[in-house]
Amino acid sequence: MRKINVFDTTLRDGEQSAGVNLNFQEKLEIAKQLERLGVDIIEAGFPASSQGDFASVKAIAQTVKGSSITGLSRSLEREIETTWEALKESAEPRIHVFIATSPIHMEYKLRMTPDQVVENAVAAVKQAAAKFPQVQWSAEDASRSDLPFLARIIREVIDAGATVINLPDTVGYTTPYEIGQMFRYVSEHVPNIDKAILSTHNHDDLGMAVANSLAAIQNGAGQVECTVNGIGERAGNASLEEIAVALNIRQDHYQAKTNLTLKEIKRTSTLVSKLTGMVVPSNKAVVGANAFAHESGIHQDGVLKNKETYEIITPELVGVSSNRMVLGKHSGRHAFKDKLVELGFNGSDEQLQKTFVAFKDLADKKKDITEEDLFALMTEATVGSAVSHYELETLQVNYGTTNIPTATITMKLPNGETVQEAGTGSGSVEAIYNTLERVVDEPILLMDYRIQSTTAGRDSLAEVYVTVQYDGTESSGRGTAHDVLEASAKAYINAVNRTISRKLFNEQRTNPLKV
Ligand code: KIV
Ligand code: ZN
Repeated sequence: MRKINVFDTTLRDGEQSAGVNLNFQEKLEIAKQLERLGVDIIEAGFPASSQGDFASVKAIAQTVKGSSITGLSRSLEREIETTWEALKESAEPRIHVFIATSPIHMEYKLRMTPDQVVENAVAAVKQAAAKFPQVQWSAEDASRSDLPFLARIIREVIDAGATVINLPDTVGYTTPYEIGQMFRYVSEHVPNIDKAILSTHNHDDLGMAVANSLAAIQNGAGQVECTVNGIGERAGNASLEEIAVALNIRQDHYQAKTNLTLKEIKRTSTLVSKLTGMVVPSNKAVVGANAFAHESGIHQDGVLKNKETYEIITPELVGVSSNRMVLGKHSGRHAFKDKLVELGFNGSDEQLQKTFVAFKDLADKKKDITEEDLFALMTEATVGSAVSHYELETLQVNYGTTNIPTATITMKLPNGETVQEAGTGSGSVEAIYNTLERVVDEPILLMDYRIQSTTAGRDSLAEVYVTVQYDGTESSGRGTAHDVLEASAKAYINAVNRTISRKLFNEQRTNPLKV
């Protein structure tokens, strides 16, 4: 059985998804969960692209020691240097340096000849190898590159010190047959290929990213790059959970395995979905809400007689619980803490206390508290606390079919003062948002508003996701509460708080190398 390294790029390529902007604390939480999942390599960001990325890559490299941490870099001297500054404290410093190799990218984007690209790639890899024990080199748009040219440049970068060679299908153009041919060609035409691990990285523009990744594995790739829930640029990247489960369920066929702890998959998927605001479609393989639901009578009958008639993956394999009640109103702090630790909690005492208070409050309103509820409360307490410039203290809404909806809100301002405002709107949410705009005293444009429940049942927690335009930038926000109106208010305030945090961060850090 071959071991395939899993390289997760949720925090880099995944974060490039339109509308996604994770803050420092959220990236750290995702990285810790990826470590728990057993990912071999975490691409934590693109350190030279912004001060925010630099700081979060550095913090992840300092904190997460169970996975190798890497950062993306163009083939530029100063970017490679910045990437080193961000990663030098990681357990196994690893850089991911890339340059495009397809005729169209070389001519129009880089405006370089093939010889210049080779020269540039070799120089970048040499510079990187002088510092990093692991150097991954990527041939951007490899799937549309000329194969003999690809073989030549790969041979030269391996000689220069590259230890991993990644061949991305950057535009999601290739097919399983073609990608297999490319990997076979490289394995057979690069004389020093045994000195490096081949890696595959696929985008889903034609819906073939997972199939292409599996075909590359069958043809020599020893590393697969993917994102949780398949998020990423345009149509996204190959989805981690689909590849991992395909390799596990069809071991007979692929003869390959990963080091992942599969029962952490569902939780990882939920965390990424919550923090990015990207909803997982209910029919999504492995992690969708309907992935294990049998609707038709014939199927249900078969499953009752023998599960294997229609079920090839058990929900337990990927950590899907059956919405089980885990705690109730009378559960004590001890049982609560134990359950949280089991769910992966490793926050501070203050965060534990905050989650406990929220739990007690929810238990007064909801009979059975499930793992999903606890996970939602815990996520709010650990990542929500980092961004509270404005804080909601009280909210009251008057709604009647014949009245004008009115909201009255008490808020704590960034300077510590408490203010009360009231406002109206044509609906309750609009009344709340108009009132909040008065408190913040600056125009806030609502671009998107979405709501979903944490669990089934009328007493479920509500999760609201918004995108707003505030202070010249677009920001997303989320809020969780037992009441949909409170969740709506929290999401809006969260988006404003995130904009302020980002602005403060950028003002404080003028030189990323000094972080
Ligand atoms: O899709 C791509 O080509 C990439 C590279 C930077 C590896 O993401
Ligand atoms: Zn990519």
